[in-house]
Amino acid sequence: MFKVGVITCSDKGFLGEREDLSGKLIIDILERNEYKVESYKMIPDDKEVIKKTMIDMSDKLKVNLILTSGGTGFSKRDVTPEATLEVSDKNANGIAEAIRSYSLSITKRAMLSRAVSAIRGDTLIVNLPGSPKAVEEALDYILDTLFHGLEILTDTRHDCARK
Ligand code: MTE
Repeated sequence: MFKVGVITCSDKGFLGEREDLSGKLIIDILERNEYKVESYKMIPDDKEVIKKTMIDMSDKLKVNLILTSGGTGFSKRDVTPEATLEVSDKNANGIAEAIRSYSLSITKRAMLSRAVSAIRGDTLIVNLPGSPKAVEEALDYILDTLFHGLEILTDTRHDCARK
């Protein structure tokens, strides 16, 4: 079972002014798909806090996957993609591109998400937008392929040949 860290980046959520429906939804979808949610954090849109949370989950908890929600838009406080890239050592753009491409077939507003996906050590980090609707649409589309990517990243599968 792959271990996952879930991070919701939201000033309002952190201050208790908004319920974190997206974080709950991510956890629910992951558990239904046999991922183990090792850690869940609700944090403010603060780049250093986001970076530290990602580093802890990756290096100390050794999660295989970090899913973030929120902070990918154009508002001044949105810094989740920048934090992700600053803690990562490899690009894994295809996942963010796939989410954006699929999401554009649902809403043109998908072009307003600056979400990225990248790898830190043995951990894949994928940004999702903040709304529950966007989270559900994105995860629906990527989840099965994500599993294959994680098998390769964690060395539990060595080839991509289909049986
Ligand atoms: N992607 C999907 N699949 N569905 C959506 O409804 N909303 C968009 C976009 N991506 C959306 C989506 C909107 S309206 C915004 S502003 C951006 O995500 C950024 O969202 P964030 O700042 O909450 O991360």
